[in-house]
Amino acid sequence: MKKRKSVKLYYKHFRESQVFDIPPGWSVLEALRASGIRHASVCGGRGRCTTCRVKVGEGMEHLLQPSSSEAGVLKRISAPDDVRLACQLHPAVSLEITPLLPATAAPVDGLSGPGYVQGQERKVVIMFIDIRESTKLAEHKLPFDVVFILNQFFSEMADTLEDTGGHYAQFNGDGLMALYGLESDLQEASVQALQGVQQMMRRLEILNQRLSVELHQPLRMGIGIHCGDAIVGQMGPPKTPIVTALGDNVNIAARLEAMTKEFGAELVVSLETVSAAEIDFSAFPRHEVDVRGRETQIGVYAVEDSKSLPVPAI
Ligand code: FES
Repeated sequence: MKKRKSVKLYYKHFRESQVFDIPPGWSVLEALRASGIRHASVCGGRGRCTTCRVKVGEGMEHLLQPSSSEAGVLKRISAPDDVRLACQLHPAVSLEITPLLPATAAPVDGLSGPGYVQGQERKVVIMFIDIRESTKLAEHKLPFDVVFILNQFFSEMADTLEDTGGHYAQFNGDGLMALYGLESDLQEASVQALQGVQQMMRRLEILNQRLSVELHQPLRMGIGIHCGDAIVGQMGPPKTPIVTALGDNVNIAARLEAMTKEFGAELVVSLETVSAAEIDFSAFPRHEVDVRGRETQIGVYAVEDSKSLPVPAI
């Protein structure tokens, strides 16, 4: 009988890359330990804690499917298909892996929440919302009034996110960033985000009526939406972390929001998001725009009146 040969383990950690042998029958965790690499394994390799989880790169396509117990544990943390437990993975082919938790991970880091909490690259819809001319709001107003008005505004936005499956992801004085798709696929998330825009605009209209005595002029806002891969995870100061996202697609969404001013539109949404939503936007003007960080132009739709968005009712 032909003797099985060792396969290679390509271990990527931040910018470092190392290569180890995995003897036949060994798990990835065993190979890492034998090579002197510290790797989280709170349950001692029994496939229960998930702290040993790794993201698999090249070689993924040749792996056997996870066993039912490994699959069950991975499902509990909503792990994407390219995440496996190092202690349960016995590769017969060379493999590239990246650890997902620090070697010092504690039990609470394992099954403490959905996979994206610990950091995950995933497809999301990113929305930036900005209040127009917010500095004017502060003119001739007591600080108390400004804070009161802004808090009313943010409360309406937060309620909309809750109603439409969005997640608040960042706040900056006169605007916020939201994510859709943490618990839904890209198609559903894109529809939800567009429904969110419609509801936000309706709520803003009602808020303006309610605050008409306090406001010199009605509050207005611009919204930019784009979708794609982003690094999603819980980040921030240890006592007040939030789930947010980073990456080129996040920057693009922010730039689309800034373009609402140029286009005189309430919403600028990328063609990619509209395509993902599978909604016909042909009634709206389409533009090709330059976006810093992208070599090619991207297609966007500028929507002047978001109440006319052709989205299904919530
Ligand atoms: S070490 Fe706990 S699941 Fe792998």
